[in-house]
Amino acid sequence: MTKPAFSLGTDDPAKMDSGSAATELAALAAEIARHDKLYHGQDAPEISDADYDRLVARNRAIEAAFPLLVRPDSPSRRVGTDLPAQGQFGKIRHARPMLSLSNGFSDDDIEDFVTRVRKFLSLSDADPAQFVAEPKIDGLSLSLRYENGKLVQAATRGDGAEGEDVTANVMQIASLPKQLSGSPPAIFEVRGEMYMDRHDFLALNTAQETNGKKIFANPRNAAAGSLRQKDASITGKRNLKFFAYSMGETSAPIAGTHWGFLAALRDFGFSVNDLSHRCDDVADLLATYQMIGRQRVDLPYDIDGVVYKIDRHDYQQRLGQVARAPRWAMAHKFPAEQAETVIDAIDIQVGRTGALTPVARLAPISVGGVIVSKATLHNEDEIARKDIRIGDRVIIQRAGDVIPQIVRALSDARTGNETVFDFPESCPVCHAAAIRPEGEAVRRCSGGLNCAAQLFEGLKHFVARDAFDIEGLGARQIEQFIDLGWVQTPADIFQLGDKSAAMAALDGYGDLSIKKLLSAIAVRREIGLERFIYALGIRQVGQATARLLALHYGSVEAMMAALNPDANLDAAHQALVEIDQIGAAMANDVTAFFGNPDLYQLIVDLVAELTILPPERPAENSAISGKTIVFTGTLTRMSRAEAKAKAESLGAKVSGTVSAKTDFLITGADAGSKARKAADLGITVLDEDGYSALLGNQ
Ligand code: IVH
Repeated sequence: MTKPAFSLGTDDPAKMDSGSAATELAALAAEIARHDKLYHGQDAPEISDADYDRLVARNRAIEAAFPLLVRPDSPSRRVGTDLPAQGQFGKIRHARPMLSLSNGFSDDDIEDFVTRVRKFLSLSDADPAQFVAEPKIDGLSLSLRYENGKLVQAATRGDGAEGEDVTANVMQIASLPKQLSGSPPAIFEVRGEMYMDRHDFLALNTAQETNGKKIFANPRNAAAGSLRQKDASITGKRNLKFFAYSMGETSAPIAGTHWGFLAALRDFGFSVNDLSHRCDDVADLLATYQMIGRQRVDLPYDIDGVVYKIDRHDYQQRLGQVARAPRWAMAHKFPAEQAETVIDAIDIQVGRTGALTPVARLAPISVGGVIVSKATLHNEDEIARKDIRIGDRVIIQRAGDVIPQIVRALSDARTGNETVFDFPESCPVCHAAAIRPEGEAVRRCSGGLNCAAQLFEGLKHFVARDAFDIEGLGARQIEQFIDLGWVQTPADIFQLGDKSAAMAALDGYGDLSIKKLLSAIAVRREIGLERFIYALGIRQVGQATARLLALHYGSVEAMMAALNPDANLDAAHQALVEIDQIGAAMANDVTAFFGNPDLYQLIVDLVAELTILPPERPAENSAISGKTIVFTGTLTRMSRAEAKAKAESLGAKVSGTVSAKTDFLITGADAGSKARKAADLGITVLDEDGYSALLGNQ
């Protein structure tokens, strides 16, 4: 790659005059457009990604200082060449991940949450721990980045690690501060919820209807649709609002508590929700939940629960996160909204693992602002238990993003025309036998990958965002490629390059989109082991388990040596069960998957297409990295959960049982049989003092 002939301006945007700013913005727009074309259109970039990012950042900085000079053809409003709508926004990697929240529904869930948090922190009954309770706004979360007090970037949450660049649109939203007041840190990212007031939503829908345009199902969809406009000036007209509630990257600490942080946000010029309360205990949290719940109908915007956050930031830090949700916060959802409708039919869906799931087809009905036309019936026992018949009037409910469910049939309303559903004993898609093993609730199609439904669902999972994340390859394309016989296994995806000529003859595929698709596939030839394992779609193996497996085996070669149809699968099973958090049933699913010669061949073919990277180990050089640790007895310095989280963050594997593979046994008070077993096996046994000496100040 050669260096750009274009020379990047160095004047401080804050000190430029508008004439030179306009000139430089014009030059940047032309230069960035040229590189976009080279990169996206011709696959022939002239400059490195880092140099390209510098051009974009320079453009953004000048635009932030001169919002009125943002050009109609500004690079911040446009990504790549004239791309189809789906690629309209660029990607932004979040400096700190945007997390979601775990949900609680009952008072008990909240009590458990508080107990769990207090236990993790080893707080005694006398130690206070305050929480902040705040409304859970039903909008979409955004991360706004301010540099030296100026808004420079806005991103949607996306998958939490990477979101969409909506800077140009957000710049048009009047209610958001473009310049902060007070003294914010030089780099400051704030997160919060973008939303639309109910009356603005209704007025928008009326106008949309008059103009023959799309009607939005609820204020949240309207806010999302308004933000993701190609023409940013439309976003500006939609009266979007924003409540700030959490922090992303920041170059200096802002407050010691969340409560203090919210006060600072107000000083910086953000709206912070006034219903937020600082609470002392569970009773206080639940009273606030009731209080906010009572006001819900009268608020001008939608909320769907209350969020509880531990107040002290040092506690937040210690608690950390599990998977994608912080341990220090929880959403307490409002009860599900219910409605009455009729079951028109019951369909059977066949999932990735062959499970036959009955789904009720409903007369469409609005539940809490969303039109519902399907509800899950889970399995055949559930239909029998609830005595649900085709033609029944039923109560359905929706809780948040959960799939709508049927609460009960209104048997008094029966006319005699209802029919009992006969659950099929063969797969409705491939007609192979559908078998229900003894003791299990689920009936499964035995067709494996010969079943079009399993193949389709499996491939859909394979390319999904948390798996191979192949942009441009979604359900529609997979279906089409399966129908054409181009794709029958995951490995076939990596042979699609051979089909590019045939693809060009299909409807909806231009040269550019084929190029984009093939390059999106090519990029994924290199993939981390944990994503790879997750993508295989093994039953019960979600992201967290995939990570455990990746860390356990360390490489795809080691994994396949231990797990293959000719390997000692009993030994492999035994080794898996020894991993904390992997039980016998899960281990069965893993060994059965790799032990199946057809599936194993599919993995072999796939691996041949890929470079699979070993998992990132949390810390390579701590005293316990790569070691297996078992904790036993009552720990006094921290809770078991915190000790485990800490050890894992230092690269250790924490196991529940002592075996020859254990490196250290850490004993708290009253350590029993494990200590004796460890001594017998000659394993290093440390008490808490010894352990903390080993860790030093890590
Ligand atoms: S805190 C680590 N606070 O709810 C902090 N989230 O279900 C994570 N949300 O993705 C978020 N109101 O979009 C937080 N007061 C509030 C919120 C809130 C709405 C949304 C947010 C988040 C989702 C999780």
